[in-house]
Amino acid sequence: MRIQRILQEKEQIEQNSIDLSELKKYIEKYRGKQGNVIPLLQAAMALYGYLPELVFTTLEEELGISKSQMYGVATFYSQFRLAPVGKHIVKVCHGTACHVQNATALTEALEEALEIADGETTKDGMFTIESVACLGCCSLAPVIMIGDEVFGKLDGNATVKIINEIKLKEKE
Ligand code: FES
Repeated sequence: MRIQRILQEKEQIEQNSIDLSELKKYIEKYRGKQGNVIPLLQAAMALYGYLPELVFTTLEEELGISKSQMYGVATFYSQFRLAPVGKHIVKVCHGTACHVQNATALTEALEEALEIADGETTKDGMFTIESVACLGCCSLAPVIMIGDEVFGKLDGNATVKIINEIKLKEKE
């Protein structure tokens, strides 16, 4: 019961902090147009970095698009996220070459250093760990990618060192 209340409060805070004014412009732009779900969700992603529940509620109310249809699209395409992500998304490749070179050790080291599980974001909003398929640089396996920078031939310690360097830079 208490957890339910906390979740409701959290959702309320999140909803109160979302500015819908820009989204409303897109709603007008795509009102009544065929195939408007994807461009509207893309616009919301660009505005908020993820798809807050309030976006689905607003699009349903304003345009009559059902939430189930929008969730179907949002969960099918990897470009859409249903939860906020950190400033730095640490993509850990778990493609075949990286898996063979023990990519799991990188994920485990990150989970321990950042105190979150794969797919989660740190409380300070700095880091998200994300498992991905082949990043296209298998000769460097095992590989992680942060932003558009690739780091290869890593082990757990080297991976944590990269994270610590980013943390230091953030403090400067
Ligand atoms: S399998 Fe990891 S980069 Fe290809």
